[in-house]
Amino acid sequence: MGETITLLSKREIEKMRQAGRLAAQLLDHLTPMVKPGVTTLELNDEAEKWTQAHGAISAPLGYHGFPKSICTSVNHVVCHGIPNAKQILKEGDIINIDVTPILDSYHGDTSRTFFVGTPSPLAKRLVEVTEKCLMEAIKTVKPGSRIGDIGAIIQECAEPQGFSVVRDFVGHGVSKVFHTAPQIPHYGKRGKGKKLRSGMVFTIEPMINEGTWEAVILKDGWTAITKDRKLSAQFEHTIAVTETGVEILTLSD
Ligand code: MF3
Ligand code: CO
Ligand code: CO
Repeated sequence: MGETITLLSKREIEKMRQAGRLAAQLLDHLTPMVKPGVTTLELNDEAEKWTQAHGAISAPLGYHGFPKSICTSVNHVVCHGIPNAKQILKEGDIINIDVTPILDSYHGDTSRTFFVGTPSPLAKRLVEVTEKCLMEAIKTVKPGSRIGDIGAIIQECAEPQGFSVVRDFVGHGVSKVFHTAPQIPHYGKRGKGKKLRSGMVFTIEPMINEGTWEAVILKDGWTAITKDRKLSAQFEHTIAVTETGVEILTLSD
């Protein structure tokens, strides 16, 4: 990750808007498939097909050797779960689907956590709190606020609920490059870290755990799970800092 934070031009932000909208539409497209009995490979294959049909490329496929087109992270998987034909979703599971289509060279990076059938009260609260963490963090973004403000809000949203904030994975600058400066930790202190400036484009993607924040990586080299095997949820948007505040680039219409 480079140190210099690139500011995107109006033209580039329009490109990011198009890629971001496509990413959101891809999640919308997959949503009705998320039911008991579907495999994570079926979700992957539909995502790949849809992405190609829309003139885009799946950024994860082959990224540092990642073998599939999307990440599918079920229950205690924190992130970077690999779609698999043997992994059949069942009633009560939660699954994060993380997509990143590249459209005309620009990346739209977004994820949501879905319920498979009816969630337990705990799973429901975890997922709802995680989405709230993301949306509250986005609300604080404007020129002059600081990267530390983002993490502080997320901690303040998650921790009073008894949940924890994952440390090992962060949000990131994104444009023609998938992962670049700045890093956006989901924990932090108000008033600390670099000042945000108009034209910065990055993701916020909090992973919130039911138990410990500690994660371990499986032998496949990708799948991150919670150390205590308790649940983990995540939501992600790609956002742009504007002259007056913030624009979410990964909203569907
Ligand atoms: N989309 C993920 C993120 O939010 C990155 C996935 S990289 C992969 O940053 F290689 F695991 F696909
Ligand atoms: Co991301
Ligand atoms: Co992502």
